[in-house]
Formats: sequence, structure tokens, C-alpha cells
Amino acid sequence: MANRFEYKNFDDKDNYIQQSGEVMAIRAFSGVPTACIRTYGCQQNVADSEKIKGMLSEMGFSFTENPEEADFILFNTCAVREHAEDRVFGNVGALKNIKRHRPSVIIGLCGCMMEQPHVTDRLYKSFPFVNLVFGTHSLQNFPKLFYNVITNGKRVYETGVDDKTVYEGIPTKRDGTFKGWLPIMYGCDNFCTYCIVPYTRGRERSRKFEDVVNEAREMIQSGYKEITLLGQNVNSYGKNLDEKVTFAQLLSAIDQIDGDYILRFMTSHPKDCSKELIDVIANSKHISTHLHLPFQSGNNRVLKAMNRHYTREKYLDIINYAKEKIPDVSLTSDIIVGFPGETYEEFLDTVSLIEEVEFTSLFTFIYSARPGTPAAEWDDPYTHEEKSKWFSELLAVQEEIAAKRCASMVGQKVKVLVEGKSDKDGVLTSRTSGNIIVDFEGDESLIGQFVYVEITQARNWILLGKLC
Ligand code: SAH
Ligand code: SF4
Ligand code: F3S
Repeated sequence: MANRFEYKNFDDKDNYIQQSGEVMAIRAFSGVPTACIRTYGCQQNVADSEKIKGMLSEMGFSFTENPEEADFILFNTCAVREHAEDRVFGNVGALKNIKRHRPSVIIGLCGCMMEQPHVTDRLYKSFPFVNLVFGTHSLQNFPKLFYNVITNGKRVYETGVDDKTVYEGIPTKRDGTFKGWLPIMYGCDNFCTYCIVPYTRGRERSRKFEDVVNEAREMIQSGYKEITLLGQNVNSYGKNLDEKVTFAQLLSAIDQIDGDYILRFMTSHPKDCSKELIDVIANSKHISTHLHLPFQSGNNRVLKAMNRHYTREKYLDIINYAKEKIPDVSLTSDIIVGFPGETYEEFLDTVSLIEEVEFTSLFTFIYSARPGTPAAEWDDPYTHEEKSKWFSELLAVQEEIAAKRCASMVGQKVKVLVEGKSDKDGVLTSRTSGNIIVDFEGDESLIGQFVYVEITQARNWILLGKLC
């Protein structure tokens, strides 16, 4: 079978980056133009923003965190929960003042929220000062769209594009110099009944095996010490490719690249998480001992209603296999509390599952109805207050588990990657292979390096240590 999607190389000439983009940008802003890119949501959005920054760099832009100083302000938005959307609308409203004082500033919005027609309709009607709106499928057209804004002065909207092409070679300006994201696939085909992502990101498309491995090699050779492979469901990597490759094979191929680095990945879906994958992690040189495996609910009726395609028993089976094969494996998960119709008894199955697995940490969310998803149409008899009470109950149980797990690490010597300075003077912050934070006293010159520390103390989910 041929690849289901088209693969193209991004051509900056078609996209006006070098030809006219740079000249126009400099002329439009009289001098070196400055951009402020703010990213909401998950690592997919962070990786997309790094591409937008790459394109803007080639147009001659420099960057600032402060919107007051920027000639171009872009918010890359997330639609996964209502709260995420409200924050964006609030912050866009606040930009109106900047536009009033400096009418030449260009305001743009992109990302997942822009793939929802009810959002773009509202923006068009109520936020006329927004100059540029584009969706997740238009990233490669950004220079052209930007060029249209600065040359026409009219509002430019490009959303809902049905382009399933996988673009290689879009310039990337990574935020980190030793930690980097590496998307291996885009979109999601799973249609969990609560989730907006398949609608905002489109069909699942894997990058070619060779392209991913080559990019990983380039990152390692240019000094990256931590690479995180990204996808909404990395375990189904390769499904649309004509080469017969699995995610486990991809991980294994990257793991063979020489160098001192750690390889992470997210997110795994329990329905496709194979024992082959666990074996690859167990036998690897560079792959982290951290497995983020969202289970969402510990109750089989709820899991079925969520369209997750696994049961509590199947989930526990993978977890137990991972515990058996990967010494000291660190497990984390995502959980939704208060899915429509979930009863308190069903919720208690989630609590018992976290007690059984003993996760290092959890990302817990109260269900948020997303217009356009099936679950948003269903009866939701429990109030937000009731759900919040259950939510706090769950957090209390997890806090104890995390504290116990961290305390059990006291006395261990662990290899960590030093990430930066902590809030306290002279203290550095680092991460173990299992993704647990360890703070210790040390010199700033260690930032970006691997060191060994001995764990001396546990403070809830953070560890304290000393350099070995
Ligand atoms: N692809 C990943 C997760 C992407 S979204 C996976 O399947 O595991 C990240 C997390 O947000 C999800 O795991 C889920 O826990 C949460 N989430 C998604 N939609 C939600 C909604 N409508 N309400 C509350 N939480 C949601
Ligand atoms: Fe959403 Fe499910 Fe896809 Fe994850 S796997 S992005 S939760 S639809
Ligand atoms: Fe949000 Fe889109 Fe990621 S909805 S969670 S930014 S894929």
C-alpha cells in the first residue's frame, strides 16, 4: 500500500520568506521587527510555535516575551478544555489596548481553537483588531499569510483547510539548546468521545521513518541532551506509511545513535501500547524509564463510553509488564473526573486504580464539554461542585502515593540532566530518567549536563539531593 498522505518539502521561495518577506517585514516595521509568540496547550503547539519562530527568524525578526514591545503578537491557542479557551479570549481582549496605542502592531491567532468555526465566527464579529487567523493545517502557509497582512492591510483568515500533506524542512527555532521536541506524527484518529483534538488536528499522519531518525541524529550531533518524540498517540506511529514500521522500531533505531542523551516520548495510548515497546525500553541505552500512559478512567463502562478501546484489566496488564521489565519504572497518567454520567461508585474505580498502580504523578482534569464532540450532547447529571469534591478526594489520595514514592528514593544515586537554576540562590534543578525533579546545590556551569546526585530528602513530589 502506498503512503496514504502526500509528503512535500517546504519551499521558502514559494512562501516569500527570503524573496519578499524579509524586505517587507523590515520596511513595514522600519528596522529589525520584533515578535512575541505566546503558546497555550500541549507540546504539539510548542513544536508548532518553534516552526513559526523559525520562519519569522528567516524573515529577520527578533523575539520578545513582552507584547508591549512587539511589532507582531501571535497567540498559538489550545481548545482541549473550556478554561484554555477562556484564557485566550481574555488575553486577546487585553491586546485591544496595545492596538489602540500602537495601530501598526499586527495581532495574530493560530492553533487548535482556530479550527473551530464557532470560535473564528466570534473572533471575526467581536475582535476586528485581530489581523491574522490561521489553523493548524496552515502552518506552512504562514509566511504567505503574513505577507498578505502587511501588504494588503486587510484581515486575513485561513482556517478549515483540508491539507493532509506532511511538510518537511520548515525552519525550526527551538526554544531550548539542550532539550528539544521532535514531532513524529500529526493529528489523531481515535475520536475519544470527550476530545476535540481529532477535529482540530485532523487525521493521523506519520512522518517518514528516515526523516525522523535523521532529525534525531542532527539534534544529537548538535548537542541536544534530551529529545522528546511527540504525537497524540505515538504507539500507532507508522500506520499510514507504506514501510512496515512500528513505534518500537523507531525508538530502537534512534536509541542506536551514539551520544550522551536521553530519549523520551509522549503520549502513549494504552490500546496500542505493545509489550514489544516495553521490551525496547527495558533493553535500551538512552530511553527514559518514564512511561506516561493516560488511562482516563478506572471503570470499564466509562472507558467504553469514552471510546478508549481498552479495559481496566488490559491497562493493568501492560502496567504490570512494565513494572516487571523496567526496574524502577516511573509511571504517570492523565485522568478525567466527572465524564458525563459517571457515578461516584464508578469514580471510585479510578481511585482504586491509582492506589493499585502507584503513579509518580498525575495530570487530573475535570471533564469539560467540547462543542462538536459526542459526549458534549450527553446527559451530565452531576454538578461541577460534586465533581470538584471527587476531584479533591482523588488528589488527596495521589498526594500520599507520590510522597511515599519519592520518600522511597532517599539514599539512591541517580543520573540527572541539569535543567536550570531553581528559585533558591545557588540551587539547580534537574530531572531523573523517570522525570522526577531533583534540586541540589551546584554551579550554573552544570546546566545542560548530566551529573550524578544522591537523593537526601523528599518533599512531596520534589526530591532534594547532593552532587556525587
Ligand atoms: N493524546 C493524548 C492526550 C491529549 S489531550 C492521549 O490520548 O492520552 C491531554 C489530556 O487532556 C487527555 O489525556 C485528557 O485527560 C484531557 N482531556 C482531553 N479532553 C478533555 C475534556 N473534554 N475535558 C477534560 N479533560 C480532557
Ligand atoms: Fe484526544 Fe483520544 Fe486522540 Fe488523545 S487519543 S488526542 S484523548 S482523541
Ligand atoms: Fe490543546 Fe491542540 Fe494540544 S487542543 S492539547 S494544543 S493538540
